[in-house]
Order: sequence, then structure tokens, then C-alpha cells
Amino acid sequence: MSVPNHVAVIMDGNGRWAKSKGLPRKMGHVQGGKNVEDMLYIADELGIKYFTVYAFSTENWKRSEEEVSALMTLLRSYLSSGFKKTAKNNVRIRIIGDRTGLAKDIQELINDLEESSKDNTGLQFQIAINYGSRDEIVRMMRSMALEIEAGNLSSDDITEEYVSKHLDTGDIPDPDLLIRTSGEQRLSNFLLWQLAYTEFYFTDKHWPEFDKEELVKAIESYSKRDRRFGDAK
Ligand code: IPE
Ligand code: IPE
Ligand code: MG
Repeated sequence: MSVPNHVAVIMDGNGRWAKSKGLPRKMGHVQGGKNVEDMLYIADELGIKYFTVYAFSTENWKRSEEEVSALMTLLRSYLSSGFKKTAKNNVRIRIIGDRTGLAKDIQELINDLEESSKDNTGLQFQIAINYGSRDEIVRMMRSMALEIEAGNLSSDDITEEYVSKHLDTGDIPDPDLLIRTSGEQRLSNFLLWQLAYTEFYFTDKHWPEFDKEELVKAIESYSKRDRRFGDAK
């Protein structure tokens, strides 16, 4: 079985999972968060090197104040304790997205976590928070414009490599496999540039019930595919 180097996940269906159990949406997020921790160990065990999860989109601010606040509380708890334990297991953690739009204390927790795990050589774990692909591209273009205005960059310098390097995912390779749970088949503004040649896998399972068996199924499906990049084999 050929294991993808980089797996990205749109963790969807926390709310629907909670509803199916007669629980408040918030409990779906609690269970979804626990599942992230479990999946990190499983991904590592299966030989995945990069694991990226979509935790909060730039559009998710449109949810009720109560839900946004529950999600931020949960995030604080993971950044300040749960993921600290993860970082002790040689996992490198990086956050992608516009962190300047997050509360100051969350920004500090992110900086600490990134700094303390930066030399870790195990699983490379990316969390997308306040992330939107269009926003990421706009931020990159603005910083590019500033470089041009300052006379440090010319139009000839702008190549695909330059763009890739200046997105939030900088030196992280593009995902090989994208998984979206809970039946939806859209990207919801996730990694538009980076997913150009990624294989997609959709499952009806809600994120809190997506387990090792499900991940293995996704990888099995991936490993049967004939990957192409526009070439003819
Ligand atoms: C995914 O679950 C988690 C986040 C977007 C934060 P949802 O909250 O989108 O769950 P559904 O799609 O409403 O079931
Ligand atoms: C995408 O899920 C964002 C995350 C998983 C964080 P959503 O549930 O927000 O996406 P839509 O609204 O169904 O497209
Ligand atoms: Mg959803």
C-alpha cells in the first residue's frame, strides 16, 4: 500500500454527529477535537509525514456567537494543553491562516507552540485556523505588492515557486490526499492553490466517528489510483 506523504482533512460533520446523538453542537466539537488527537497518532503510525486539518475557516465567523465562542474556548484548551503533549512526542505544529484575526492570547499560544516544536522531526502537523484560501492568496498578493513598491521584487521574479513559497504553507509539500468527511463534496475555501493535483476522497462518516479503519480505507483507495500530473503514462 503506498502511503501518501501529506494528508489534508476537511473535518466536517461535528454538528450533525451531535444531532444524531441528541447532543448540543458544542459536544460535537468536543468529540471532534478528541478525534484530532487520536488521528495524529494513527497517521504517524501509518507512515504519513504531513497531516493538515481544517479547524476554523474565515467563513466560520458567520456562525452564532455561542458556537464561535465554544470553538475558541476549545481551541485555547488544545493550544495550551492538549497539543503541548503532542509536541512532546516529537510532532512539529504549525498554524496556517490569518492569526492576526484571532484574540491576542490565542496568538501567543500559537507562537509558543510553534516555537517549542520547531525542531521536532516527527509528524508535521498543520492546523488551519481563521484560514481561507482566498484570504491567504490576497494576503500573499499584498505582501508581494509591498515588495514591488519597495523595489525588492520585479514581475519576472513572480513564478509558481515564488507564490508557493509565500503562501502560509511555505515549505510544506502539497497534499497528496484530501479527505472530506460527512458527505459534502466541496472545498469550502481550503487550500485552493495547493490542491491542484491532489487526489480527493469523500466519506459519509462524520468527523467524530472517523477512525483508523476509515483512514486506512481512504489510503487504500488512494494507493489504487493512477496518479497523473498532466503527463501520459
Ligand atoms: C466541522 O463540523 C467543524 C467546524 C466547521 C468548526 P461542523 O460544525 O461544520 O458540522 P456540521 O457540518 O454542521 O454537521
Ligand atoms: C469547512 O466546513 C470548514 C471546516 C471544516 C473548518 P464548513 O462546515 O464550515 O463548510 P460549509 O459551510 O459546509 O461549506
Ligand atoms: Mg459543516
